[in-house]
Amino acid sequence: MPTLTVEKISKSYDSPGGTLQVLCDVDLSIDCGQAAVIMGPSGCGKSTLLNILGSLEQPTGGRITLDNVDPTTLDEKGLAAFRNRSIGFVFQDHHLLPHLTVLENTMLPALVGSSGEVDESRARELLAKVGLADRLEHLPAEISGGERQRAAIARALMNRPKLVLADEPTGNLDRVSADRVADMLQSLHREQNVVLILVTHSEPFARRFDKRYELLEGRLKAC
Ligand SMILES: Nc1ncnc2c1ncn2[C@@H]1O[C@H](COP(=O)(O)OP(=O)(O)OP(=O)(O)O)[C@@H](O)[C@H]1O
Ligand SMILES: [Mg+2]
Repeated sequence: MPTLTVEKISKSYDSPGGTLQVLCDVDLSIDCGQAAVIMGPSGCGKSTLLNILGSLEQPTGGRITLDNVDPTTLDEKGLAAFRNRSIGFVFQDHHLLPHLTVLENTMLPALVGSSGEVDESRARELLAKVGLADRLEHLPAEISGGERQRAAIARALMNRPKLVLADEPTGNLDRVSADRVADMLQSLHREQNVVLILVTHSEPFARRFDKRYELLEGRLKAC
């Protein structure tokens, strides 16, 4: 059984103008070590799909299993623990906490819900892998946009998640920084053996990955 299985996921929103059907019967299955890229026009539902895969939003219908766990069966506490342990997010605008250093931001997922020792050496190792070994004590405001995205990638990997979700991780970066972030994501997901799902508007970025999908009118098609 693949690590991530998505079966007939649908999502609609009720609005004053009627029901807005955003996702329709979305199927996807991906193994660890594999990456999938999702493309599609603005407003087609890419972030909605990522939020559902990351258990941040509930689907209207369908089923998701991550390593044989169906997150919809978990209670609130169980779901929060599952999300923290099994899923890493890289948001478009990084979401690093401004008053914490690069090293502290990276360790944060391990600090949440932990009563014991946090593996600082893992955070240092991941930051070295993304080229930030000499920026550990900097605050997010003291590093570049590309460096912030790379710190966000290190943070997403901190808890050894099974699934890493990245929503336009290179969206607001220049070409050189975007290439660097793409290089990191491409090698790290294989090394760390995670399922990586990326949303991007960039064709060159998408072409780096084998599994490519387009989301159009609520349906996901391989392309
Ligand atoms: N909470 C909500 N209530 C009602 N409609 C919503 C809600 N969240 C998203 N939508 C609508 O669902 C559609 C999909 O939104 P989503 O953010 O997933 O698009 P996207 O593909 O990520 O777009 P972009 O490329 O611009 O980031 C949009 O038309 C949006 O207006
Ligand atoms: Mg979006």
